[in-house]
Amino acid sequence: MNYGALIFLVGFIGLASSWFGLVLAPQLQLGRQPITKIQGGNDPYPSRRPGLAEQGLQVYRANGCVSCHSQQVQQSGTVFDVVMTELGTNQPAVVAALAKLDSKLTGASLSSLPQDVVRGVNKLQADEVNAAFKDTGAKVAVQIRPVGPDMDWGWGRRATVAADFLQDSPVMPGSQRLGPDLANVGVRKPDVNWHLVHLYAPKSVVPDSTMPPYRFLFEKRKIDRHASPDALQLTGEAAPEAGYEIVPTAEAKALAAYLASLRADVPLFEAPMTAK
Ligand code: HEC
Repeated sequence: MNYGALIFLVGFIGLASSWFGLVLAPQLQLGRQPITKIQGGNDPYPSRRPGLAEQGLQVYRANGCVSCHSQQVQQSGTVFDVVMTELGTNQPAVVAALAKLDSKLTGASLSSLPQDVVRGVNKLQADEVNAAFKDTGAKVAVQIRPVGPDMDWGWGRRATVAADFLQDSPVMPGSQRLGPDLANVGVRKPDVNWHLVHLYAPKSVVPDSTMPPYRFLFEKRKIDRHASPDALQLTGEAAPEAGYEIVPTAEAKALAAYLASLRADVPLFEAPMTAK
């Protein structure tokens, strides 16, 4: 008997069903939502990096920055702060409630709000403090704050999550930390010129820096009548001799744009915090 058709059919069904299971189903489940939403709003996150910054990611990758820098802020937990935003009209009641709570905030300091009533408590305690002001007319807000060593370093306000990398290809989370975490460096250092000078001569802006200079991303040029508008403002040892200027290449500019675009500072469902 000739089983050709049957063998073909069995093979076809086998391949087709694995295609459905391994390709089509994941695409339907995940492939259509390349972005997530900022918590408390409808704004999509993350937005695409500007074109120059997208090119900068490739420069970052090509130069091995990832061997010294991570881009993933870790968090060890969350705490709550209770903040008074408005005093209301019944000040004595507010002062009495504060005294009962043993808060650092007292009647004398109520003139300039918002101020913290308590900081770093757990949810239960925060809710209790919140409830203590219920009938005083004052407005208080319970704020959620991620904590951990990385927050103490000032590297970010919340943990980095997978969604932060959705627009990047390849992703550069890194694992080594010879230098600071860069997940949020665009918030700390928004100035592109700072990054350019730092890349050219790290020690000229951070005197005890051990980061290697990336001079090959710059060109030394003889000044021909007019100085270039792009020329770096360098001082001290980093400055070139008179009559010369240091100009960033397209790669350096892209890299600096990328660094300035590194910001993970919005609250997400999977990484809640209270936005400032
Ligand atoms: C050998 C390790 C090393 C390599 C490689 C390295 N860095 Fe650094 N980087 C450091 C150190 C250490 C610091 C902290 C001192 C300083 O600010 O210069 C630093 C600081 C920085 C900062 C400032 C961060 C802040 O919070 O102020 C940026 C931005 C930066 N590096 C970007 C880069 C880029 C981009 C590259 C690749 C072109 C790179 N680094 C390669 C070690 C390194």
